[in-house]
Amino acid sequence: MTQNRPLTRVFLAFTLAGSLLFTNISRAQEADQQNAAEGTQQGTEQAAPATDGGLPADDASISEGMSLFNSNCKSCHKIEGKLVGPALKDVHKRAPSIDWIVDFVHNSSKVIASGDAYANKIYEEYNKTQMTAFPTLSRQQILNILGYIKQETDALAAAPTTTAVPGDATGQGQGTDTGIPASYMNIIMIALVVVLLLILVVLILITTVLKKYINQKGELEEADKEIVDASFNINAVVKSKPFIFLVTFISAAIVFKVVIHNLYAVGIQQGYAPKQPIAFSHKLHAGQYEIDCNYCHTGVRKSKNANIPSPNICMNCHVAIKTESPEIQKIYAAIENDRPIEWVRIHNLPDLAYFNHAQHVEVGGIECQTCHGEVQEMEVVAQASLLTMGWCIDCHRKTDVNTKGNEYYDNLVELHNAEGKGALKVEDIGGLECSKCHY
Ligand code: HEC
Ligand code: HEC
Ligand code: HEC
Ligand code: HEC
Ligand code: HEC
Ligand code: HEC
Repeated sequence: MTQNRPLTRVFLAFTLAGSLLFTNISRAQEADQQNAAEGTQQGTEQAAPATDGGLPADDASISEGMSLFNSNCKSCHKIEGKLVGPALKDVHKRAPSIDWIVDFVHNSSKVIASGDAYANKIYEEYNKTQMTAFPTLSRQQILNILGYIKQETDALAAAPTTTAVPGDATGQGQGTDTGIPASYMNIIMIALVVVLLLILVVLILITTVLKKYINQKGELEEADKEIVDASFNINAVVKSKPFIFLVTFISAAIVFKVVIHNLYAVGIQQGYAPKQPIAFSHKLHAGQYEIDCNYCHTGVRKSKNANIPSPNICMNCHVAIKTESPEIQKIYAAIENDRPIEWVRIHNLPDLAYFNHAQHVEVGGIECQTCHGEVQEMEVVAQASLLTMGWCIDCHRKTDVNTKGNEYYDNLVELHNAEGKGALKVEDIGGLECSKCHY
């Protein structure tokens, strides 16, 4: 049996290395695809030419344009990328004329009804979605909006990589690529497998040569000869005491682990994803159309609760979009009958715990995705985190307080630095005190 041991070990190492290699290759491919996608994006951004459209460029006009854009147009338009309406980047270059834009913003349906070819083309392209009419905006105000759009476009073109920078302090999403680039990792892994294969071959050669040599000499005692000639005997191994012990031990350990795991999971609803009364998709709204979370969850930056949007918020768009869809009809029914839509609550802490969104999102600067997962990719929202006390505490121990530009923390940071204990963590401002989280 002795000669088989090194062989089995080599085999084990070999399979291990093989499986490692496999996961790494698939990860590398993902990373490559991502890089490729980012690359093409940057390419198009850089391709934007910089011609002046004779639009206002002074600070006062631009800032008026910005506030007008934010209050009137932002719910349907983005500078870059489609929302409900087209991206407004470079619109002054592609639309027939500045006058056309002014007329279109004043009353788009009039322009469309007049048979204007360009207007009808985009109207068809956007599924006959009616743009709100803004008859009260003056020509100058609309020019200011266009000036603001142009300035933002230039800013985007000047800093094409901003979106690709892993800016969030929490490091979510970027966590997989640490240190060594994936392609290097692959080369290292392949080299490792080759080396292991070589060792395997050499070992096989050595054992056969040794066996031959010993047999040729032929001056072995009977007992030793048995060992040399012995072939691998599965039956004996299975019946041996150490083997039985090992199998019993491993099974017991697995059962123990499963029981403990399930006991800990009592009251935990991670992954909970109930069916909602209306087939509302975050993937469509927050992902594809990139509607800001804050647009619907209006309280998330300023209060304890994030809020679930009332049907009125849906109606900002669905007065005009997909009006015939039976799912959208349910929104109309709710408004007509004056009854709320009965969304099923997913995240729910027990009443004894206090959690405040504004504190985490606005003050702490934490992304929604850190706690809720990639909501913008969910067709149906599922609870992504544990929501246990240990989960809260763990993050409070690890996370630095976002003190930048927050005067409230200036004195505290000074005192803390004087003590020389490293970065100010949530733990250091009392984030582990029972009364902060418990009423
Ligand atoms: C209710 C959603 C909505 C709002 C609010 C809105 N738009 Fe639009 N807009 C659209 C849609 C949809 C289109 C595509 C044409 C169509 O379907 O009528 C469009 C088209 C346009 C176009 C033509 C784009 C092109 O590609 O040529 C311009 C310019 C425009 N909007 C400017 C504005 C401005 C400026 C505001 C704010 C004052 C604004 N829009 C507010 C929905 C909206
Ligand atoms: C167009 C409106 C809209 C936008 C934009 C939106 N949501 Fe929602 N969100 C809803 C509605 C409606 C519900 C309730 C139905 C459901 O759970 O799908 C909801 C539910 C949720 C829930 C679960 C609430 C619970 O019951 O525990 C979370 C978490 C959430 N949204 C996070 C986000 C995040 C993060 C974003 C931005 C990436 C976002 N939402 C963008 C409308 C919106
Ligand atoms: C900022 C605009 C906007 C808001 C606000 C909005 N939606 Fe939408 N919604 C859209 C767009 C755009 C589509 C895609 C239409 C299409 O596929 O042509 C859509 C599609 C849908 C659909 C799919 C309809 C179908 O049959 O394909 C449902 C359901 C829906 N929305 C529900 C809601 C609910 C509920 C709310 C309020 C919580 C809401 N939406 C708020 C823009 C909006
Ligand atoms: C630090 C973690 C954390 C972050 C960051 C966070 N949430 Fe939450 N969210 C929670 C917890 C915990 C609950 C459950 C609260 C409760 O039951 O009182 C919750 C509940 C919700 C709900 C259900 C309704 C409500 O108000 O309780 C919505 C919607 C929601 N979050 C949306 C968001 C959005 C949108 C963002 C980003 C702007 C966000 N959350 C950021 C932890 C977080
Ligand atoms: C992703 C990390 C993270 C998670 C998860 C998290 N917190 Fe926090 N929490 C923070 C940060 C960062 C701050 C500091 C915000 C600030 O600057 O005031 C904070 C602050 C707080 C504060 C105020 C502390 C003080 O001394 O002012 C309370 C209360 C709190 N969190 C409760 C909770 C509860 C309850 C949960 C779990 C349901 C939770 N947090 C989960 C990061 C987190
Ligand atoms: C960062 C916020 C936070 C802090 C600090 C905190 N807790 Fe909690 N605690 C929670 C949350 C959230 C829950 C609910 C967890 C759940 O439902 O699984 C909880 C649950 C509990 C429970 C369980 C109640 C039950 O019904 O199961 C007890 C007991 C408790 N906490 C005691 C304490 C004590 C004592 C301290 C101080 C040493 C403390 N907590 C500090 C957030 C906190």
